[in-house]
Amino acid sequence: MTDFANIKGVLFDLNGIITDSWRYHSQSWRQVAEGIGIQWNKELEEAIKGRDRIDSLNEILRAGGIADKYSEQEKEALADKKNDIYQQMLEVMNPDDILPGIRDFLAELRLNHYQMIIASASANAPKEIQKLELEDYFPLIVDLANIKHNKPAPDVYLKAADMLHLKVDQCIGIDDGIVGVASINAANVISIGVGDPEVLKMADINFESTKELTLANIRQNWSK
Ligand code: BG6
Ligand code: MG
Repeated sequence: MTDFANIKGVLFDLNGIITDSWRYHSQSWRQVAEGIGIQWNKELEEAIKGRDRIDSLNEILRAGGIADKYSEQEKEALADKKNDIYQQMLEVMNPDDILPGIRDFLAELRLNHYQMIIASASANAPKEIQKLELEDYFPLIVDLANIKHNKPAPDVYLKAADMLHLKVDQCIGIDDGIVGVASINAANVISIGVGDPEVLKMADINFESTKELTLANIRQNWSK
């Protein structure tokens, strides 16, 4: 593991780290899934956390045993339907939806001259950062149009490091999903998994809550 002193940048997942919009994704997918007769459960929810829109839909259809039922066009319509529901839910998002500890952590990072960027799999990330009024911290958001493969491939986190003009071993990536932590690891960036440590056991460092995200805690857990 690289030295903590080498770290110059922090690459942030959005849903589940900066804000709890993951629950909106989950609720809107659930509506779409149940609307086509697929039963929702915890495993399915965990399997799609952090996956992009079409990958999530394909996973849901597979879980429902109807992977081949819909044409590409019909699948696009289902994905659009989910996004419409999601965007309606986003309307009420505001700075109160920033997760506990995040505001202090961002201020601490800025004070200590770390660079920051949003490395989200979501095309809605710029809108959410605006609603949360965090544009000042995050003028940089990875543009998915420039990404070939979404998480769990390393592309999003590699692009994020590149946009900060940093090498991967100068960065930390923070994510709350199995798919996201796998993406950080594949990029050879030090990974922090926030959530159930059993579920995210592949992360280099684990925290159960965003409240624990402080430089002192990260330093303390470095290469434990
Ligand atoms: C991730 C979410 O951040 O973005 C996933 O965790 C979601 O649930 C993915 O599918 C893509 O989001 P969007 O907004 O582009 O559909
Ligand atoms: Mg997430």
